[in-house]
Amino acid sequence: MVPPAATASAPVQPIGTPEAPAIKDPAKDTILTPRFYTTDFDAMAAMDLRPNEAELEAICEEFRKDYNRHHFVRNEEFEGAADKLDPETRKVFVEFLEQSCTSEFSGFLLYKELSRRIKEKNPLLAECFAHMARDEARHAGFLNKSMSDFGLQLDLGFLTANKAYTYFKPAYIFYATYLSEKIGYWRYIAIYRHLEKNPDSKIFPIFNFFENWCQDENRHGDFFDALMKAVPSTVTGFTAKLWCRFFLLAVFATMYVRDVARKEFYEALGLDAREYDKYVIEKTNETSARVFPVVLDVENPKFWVRLERLVNNNQALSEADASSAPAPIKALRKLPYWGANALEMAKLFLMAPIASNRYQPAVR
Ligand SMILES: [Fe+2]
Ligand SMILES: [Fe+2]
Repeated sequence: MVPPAATASAPVQPIGTPEAPAIKDPAKDTILTPRFYTTDFDAMAAMDLRPNEAELEAICEEFRKDYNRHHFVRNEEFEGAADKLDPETRKVFVEFLEQSCTSEFSGFLLYKELSRRIKEKNPLLAECFAHMARDEARHAGFLNKSMSDFGLQLDLGFLTANKAYTYFKPAYIFYATYLSEKIGYWRYIAIYRHLEKNPDSKIFPIFNFFENWCQDENRHGDFFDALMKAVPSTVTGFTAKLWCRFFLLAVFATMYVRDVARKEFYEALGLDAREYDKYVIEKTNETSARVFPVVLDVENPKFWVRLERLVNNNQALSEADASSAPAPIKALRKLPYWGANALEMAKLFLMAPIASNRYQPAVR
């Protein structure tokens, strides 16, 4: 379900300087903001990787090479870059940095904790997670440093201790993280390629780093692809098909509603949020067919009509939220839109999926 927006405006807070950035209050948690996850560490430790051990070992060897060891180094282009943004662009760009930093950091926490907790019993898996935690820490740190160019910083220690953690059993962690890595790859590379063709729209030098950066995300996604193939029960059978559909839909719908709600950020880059998301969703869906048994029928026009209805309902929910009415009246006004969202999501979920082998052999 896709309820109230991430756009609910937060109270104005003081802004520091790049030298002494103010700690930013964390954004209010909604279903559209990045989550922190925890899982069953014993089940992860006990996982038998033999069915796909050679591929996992090869991926771990890639991680060891640490291709981006020297990539995330700030250069002189960052000096004064923040001052060139107009106030409106500045606001949406800082929101983008904050959301990206939080989701990179969420990956770091999960991978770090996994590597620590399964080290003794499952050293290969633990090592892969440790390398991925290294990458995500770099990504989060780089984004947080860019936030400090705008006089703000996220207190990652505070977030670690205070944000709610969602428990997912290992199979759900695989679906959710696989999709977030692959969608992250397509999001970053799409922006990078667009700005390569339209250098005037490059509003901040961080985008120059996206090409190598997204290769990290691509490798992380490949790791989860190999991991699911090592545990075939996660991607075969009736139940797995249902969960793959569910996670694909949840990830796509959340991204679409969130991105359209903050389309000003994409406009600042010279992109249309809807077209951009359509491209990212189509590409991620096609990529997912390499490992998921089914994917969504994103070529069906009804898929997009229904996503637009979610956008409209979400807009109405935000308006109800922003009104000065007492809480019970607000809830009453929101009720029909919550119901409408649930109905649209159910209809989307029930749309006939596409068997992934339809993409073979080109993709699989
Ligand atoms: Fe990352
Ligand atoms: Fe990643």
